[in-house]
Amino acid sequence: MEIYPTLFPVVAALLVDDTGRVLVQQRPQGTAMAGLWEFPGGKIEAGESPETALVRELAEELGITVLPDACEPLTFASATLGQKHLILLLFRCTAWQGEPRALHATALRWATVAELYSLPMPPADLPLLPIIAQSLGQK
Ligand code: C5P
Repeated sequence: MEIYPTLFPVVAALLVDDTGRVLVQQRPQGTAMAGLWEFPGGKIEAGESPETALVRELAEELGITVLPDACEPLTFASATLGQKHLILLLFRCTAWQGEPRALHATALRWATVAELYSLPMPPADLPLLPIIAQSLGQK
């Protein structure tokens, strides 16, 4: 049985600034889940490693350069969206070059964990919050 058409692997980054705030971006109009706030990232393309996809997506979406070595796997979450089983791998990144810009998103926002809980987020991003809170020592 062919399972891959329904498996949708996604990678996303937890970028943390000096004050412990994390970067989220608002999905643009005309895309699925427009208006929701997500961790920057996207689909892992065929033949890509998660780390390669992460570096590519952060360059495309934010215009920043991260070294794969600066990102560590933190956790993952899953969600079923229609016919797709989406698996989101979250990496925590400690260093990057450049100032993030909203190249695809409607807006960027640096948020505390408490603020994240008040933002509407896609179903695969929402379950990440308790682990992020624990990892950052915030509630
Ligand atoms: O950015 P891209 O279009 O490649 O993202 C593919 C899909 O991954 C989006 O449609 C969205 O459903 C999902 N995604 C997500 N959470 C993120 C990033 C992407 O659910 N943080």
